[in-house]
Amino acid sequence: MSYPFQIKSPDEYNKAYKQSIDDPEAFWAAVAETFLWKKKWDKVLAWNFREPDVKWFINGKLNITENCIDRHLISSGDKPAIIWEPNDPKEESRTLTYSELHYSVNQFAHVLRNNGVKKGDRVCIYMGMIPELPIAMLACARIGAIHSVIFGGFSAQSISDRLQDAGAECIITCDGAYRGGKDIPLKNVIDDALVTCPFVKKVIVYTRTHTPVSMTKGRDVWWGDEIKKVEEMRYAEIPAEEMDAEDPLFILYTSGSTGKPKGVVHTSGGYMVYTTYSFVNVFQYQPGDVHFCTADIGWITGHTYIVYSVLCAGGTSLMYEGLPTWPDAGRFWDIVDKYKVNILYTAPTAIRSLMAYGLEPLKGKDLSSLKVLGTVGEPINEEAWQWYDEHIGKKKCPIVDTWWQTENGGILISNMAGITPSKPSYATLPLPGIQPALMDEHGKEIEGNDVSGNLCIKFPWPSMIRTTYGDHERCRVNYFASYPDMYFTGDGCYRDSNGNYRITGRVDDVLNVSGHRIGTAEVENAINMHTGVIESAVVGYPHDVKGQGIYAFVIFDNVHEDVELSRKDIMQTVSRVIGPIAKPDKIQFVNGLPKTRSGKIMRRILRKIAEGEMSSLGDTSTLLDPGVVDEIVKGKI
Ligand code: PRX
Repeated sequence: MSYPFQIKSPDEYNKAYKQSIDDPEAFWAAVAETFLWKKKWDKVLAWNFREPDVKWFINGKLNITENCIDRHLISSGDKPAIIWEPNDPKEESRTLTYSELHYSVNQFAHVLRNNGVKKGDRVCIYMGMIPELPIAMLACARIGAIHSVIFGGFSAQSISDRLQDAGAECIITCDGAYRGGKDIPLKNVIDDALVTCPFVKKVIVYTRTHTPVSMTKGRDVWWGDEIKKVEEMRYAEIPAEEMDAEDPLFILYTSGSTGKPKGVVHTSGGYMVYTTYSFVNVFQYQPGDVHFCTADIGWITGHTYIVYSVLCAGGTSLMYEGLPTWPDAGRFWDIVDKYKVNILYTAPTAIRSLMAYGLEPLKGKDLSSLKVLGTVGEPINEEAWQWYDEHIGKKKCPIVDTWWQTENGGILISNMAGITPSKPSYATLPLPGIQPALMDEHGKEIEGNDVSGNLCIKFPWPSMIRTTYGDHERCRVNYFASYPDMYFTGDGCYRDSNGNYRITGRVDDVLNVSGHRIGTAEVENAINMHTGVIESAVVGYPHDVKGQGIYAFVIFDNVHEDVELSRKDIMQTVSRVIGPIAKPDKIQFVNGLPKTRSGKIMRRILRKIAEGEMSSLGDTSTLLDPGVVDEIVKGKI
């Protein structure tokens, strides 16, 4: 497969960028032409950011799975589409060629149909990192059902909230999932979630770990049995459902500054066009390259850069079931060596945790196949960048620092590997079609270079969020109300004297823990569910490996004489309500929280204390009880 839109020099980047600004519609139409459409669009774009109402490739009809799979069958049917490395290195790996993927997706699409799933239905997927996860997603897309993948680390309560919000009546899960030395009982978690979701009609369970599970008659079915039925019916291809470019492809829940995660909705046409464009250009993908994105498919990075964009480009996507450090810290390097990986895309938190093991795990591993390295999820510190460059890329692989968000669908700001220059800890330049703006606190755009402000995007791009599921107003308020006619990212940003962008972190009450977004309000809500908790306030603090850690200040009714036990109780509560990923790293019991006379918690002060910057707490005289602050400072952990 060739990529007519692949940029090959700095000049071509400049030219493409200029075209994309001067005539965005012609620019994106030319990219979109290279895909398979059932019917071409009538108009490329209609938009306003006030409502917001954004539509790309209006009246265009397509099915993304034909672009991900069918169109590669003749030229590349025998090429590996997905290579899967299991958690346990002793277990056999699996490879699915494009033909095999086509077969499996069609079979499972039949299973979904047989179980009553129709176009537009929401299907929740809660699985480990096994090939059946992308197969399930693609099977949904094949018949026009909207998938909502939930990360395996979320609790029953979180799943229940998401199922109710999405109104999902079908769930696809596994008996369990392997992660390092653990076996996570996914079906049991689903059973707990379903106590509060009687509207769920079908649960399809794939056998992975042989963990004992309870199967409810009439509701729960085994993946394997359902496939057998399809085989008995004699396999026939399912024609890909004709979807409108603006029909939803998936919902993915993400945290914001309120207590409740929001369902970000992405649509078929624009998502397909932009994500593939970004994949081919940022990573400079060449046919035959093995692309290893280490993210979990439960997050947007996995959706886009393990599944959809790589397959649309006819590429080979390597997916790994386990952890970077199990059974030892050389696991990633073994995988790179074994499969001759060409592109490695991971998170700064993974790099930092592997750095801590020194160079021993790298010994004897051949990393010479690597051509491009990528990072995503949080700002990468210079030390981690240099280590990645020197010890993994051996100073010959460009590093792409890719900035984007769940709401963006694909990478918005990044250098292009070997084409535009990298700069440690800078995402550098916007991709064609992306018009960043830095805004001051009065809502005015800050022009020129060597300036900082809140990062907004001025013009729509094809894979942007269309709505938050079931609550469009929430989408407007969250992203489009802070600055009129702009999409507000929630990130702070610096633009250097050469126009390179450096993301400085969230400016709202959203934490970024190990590259995962968690709202402080969400964690506070969870902590407050514990019977002994009167009030709590959660802030972030710098953490050597995770980037940010979670620091909770808690007013507790009756702290146990074993203080640690009370802390563990709170951790357990958070694990139950959200999931282990949101457990606070530090819990400090306090008698009061710093509040203004109007009762608002002064988080700025708590943040400074958590960061250990006691000398710069600022003016505390407006507090209701300034004495509270001294006490908190004294008790800091
Ligand atoms: O703060 C930014 C940070 O991650 C946030 C988006 O999180 P999420 O929607 O979970 O998506 C993560 C993966 C796309 C952003 O608002 N972020 C993401 N990438 C970078 C980053 N911060 C700095 N540099 C990056 N490359």
